[in-house]
Amino acid sequence: MKTTIAKVSEYEGQVVTIGAWLANKRSSGKIAFLQLRDGTGFMQGVVVKNDVEEETFNLAKNITQETSMYITGKIVEDTRSPLGYEMQVQSIEIIHEAVDYPITPKEHGTEFLMDHRHLWLRSKRQHAVMKIRNEIIRATYQFFNDNGYVKVDPPILTGSSAEGTTELFHTKYFEEEAYLSQSGQLYMEAAAMAFGKVFSFGPTFRAEKSKTRRHLIEFWMIEPEMAFVDHDESLEIQEQYVSFIVQSVLENCKLELETLGRDTSKLENIKAPFPRISYDKAIQLLKDKGFTDIEWGEDFGAPHETAIAESFEKPVFITNYPAEIKAFYMKPDPERSEVVLCADLIAPEGYGEIIGGSQRIDDLALMEKRYEEHDLTGEAYKWYLELRQYGSVPHSGFGLGLERTVAWLSGVDHVRETIPFPRLLNRLYP
Ligand code: 4AD
Ligand code: MG
Repeated sequence: MKTTIAKVSEYEGQVVTIGAWLANKRSSGKIAFLQLRDGTGFMQGVVVKNDVEEETFNLAKNITQETSMYITGKIVEDTRSPLGYEMQVQSIEIIHEAVDYPITPKEHGTEFLMDHRHLWLRSKRQHAVMKIRNEIIRATYQFFNDNGYVKVDPPILTGSSAEGTTELFHTKYFEEEAYLSQSGQLYMEAAAMAFGKVFSFGPTFRAEKSKTRRHLIEFWMIEPEMAFVDHDESLEIQEQYVSFIVQSVLENCKLELETLGRDTSKLENIKAPFPRISYDKAIQLLKDKGFTDIEWGEDFGAPHETAIAESFEKPVFITNYPAEIKAFYMKPDPERSEVVLCADLIAPEGYGEIIGGSQRIDDLALMEKRYEEHDLTGEAYKWYLELRQYGSVPHSGFGLGLERTVAWLSGVDHVRETIPFPRLLNRLYP
C-alpha cells in the first residue's frame, strides 16, 4: 500500500510504501536510523540489521543525503517523536542517488543558504514555515468565503499607482509606460461597487531601497474592500480576520510550530477585540518611552512600532494618522480634517506593521482636490474618479502583508524565510 507520511497514523501495524528522500541518518553496527521526508512530513525509519536482508542494511548504512527512494516497512507507534509514528523498515528501492548534497546538517551562513534556496526549501525548518504560510492562505480563503466576499483579481500591469510613485517598478507596455502593481486597491474599490464585499490575494511589487528584515521587493497582499462599511466597522473585520488566521494556525500547524520552537502561549490570546490607540496618543507614548525627538506629523519607523507594540500583548491598531503622511485616497476625519480615518495594525513581538487600511474618500469634489494636490492626471486615474460620480457610497478596505504575518506566527525574524523565492534588494536568484 502506497501512502504518505502525513497519513501514516491511518496505517498503524500495517506495511506501507512511501516515496521519500533521505533528510539525515545515524547508524551504528546493528541499527540505522533514517530521517525520511516526503514533502508531507518527516518520519524516522529504523533499519535493524538482524531483521532485514544484508543488502538492505548495507544500503541503509551507506545511503546519502537527499537520495530518493521507495521505502517499505511497518508503521508502529513511537511516542518520542513529534509525529507519533515511525517505520520499521523492510526494504528500500533507490530511485536516484544524490551525491554531495551541498546543504549538510552542519550550520551554513545565510548567504550560502539563500544561494541554495531551491534546495534549502527541503529543510525541516523551511518546510514548517511554508506550511504555516499555506495555512494562512487556506484560512484567508475560508474566512472571506464564509463571510460572503467575492474574490476579484486586480491587474498586475497597471498605469496607475495607489501608494505613491517613488517605489514603482517601471516597464514598457508596448509604446506606453506601465508599472507592476503596488496594490490592487483602486481596482478593488471599483469591484466593491460591483459586488459589495470583495477581496484580492496577489503579488505586489515595490522598488523599495530599504534593506530591512521586514521588506521584500515582491510580496503577497490580501486586500479586502467593503461597500457600506465605515472605518470602525472595518477595524472589527480586521481583528476578526487576524484572530481567525492565528487560531487556524494554532489548531492546524501544531507540528510546524513545535519544529520552529514557537512560543505559542504568545499566540493563544490573540483574539478580537484588539486595542486601538490614536496616532496622537502613540506620539505621547513614544515620548514617554524616551523617543524625545519624534514630532507630531512624522511617520513611525520600525523602532517606534516595536516600542509601541511592547505596551500591548495583542496586535494594536494605531489610528488617525496625519493626512500628510498617508495616501491620497484616505478620508479625512470629519471632526478633524488634518487626520484621516485610517489604521495600521502593528503585530506584537516586534514584527511590525501587518495591515494598512482606511476608509476611502467618497466625495467627488474632495477627490478632485486631492488629484490636484497629488498631480494625478490622465486616463490612468480618470476611471477612479468616476467611482465617486455614479452612486458613491462610504467604503473601507485594508491590505494585509502575508510575509510579515507568516514571520510573526512562525517566529522567524526575517521575511526572507517566509516566501519560497524571496526577491530582495540584492537578490533575483534563484
Ligand atoms: O500599508 P500598505 O502600503 O497599504 C496598501 O498598499 C493599501 N493600498 C492596502 C489597502 O488598503 N488595500 O501595505 C499593506 C501591507 C503592510 O501593512 C505590510 O504588511 C505589507 O503590506 N507590506 C510589505 N510587506 C513586505 N515587504 C514590503 N516591502 C511591504 N510593504 C508593505
Ligand atoms: Mg502601510
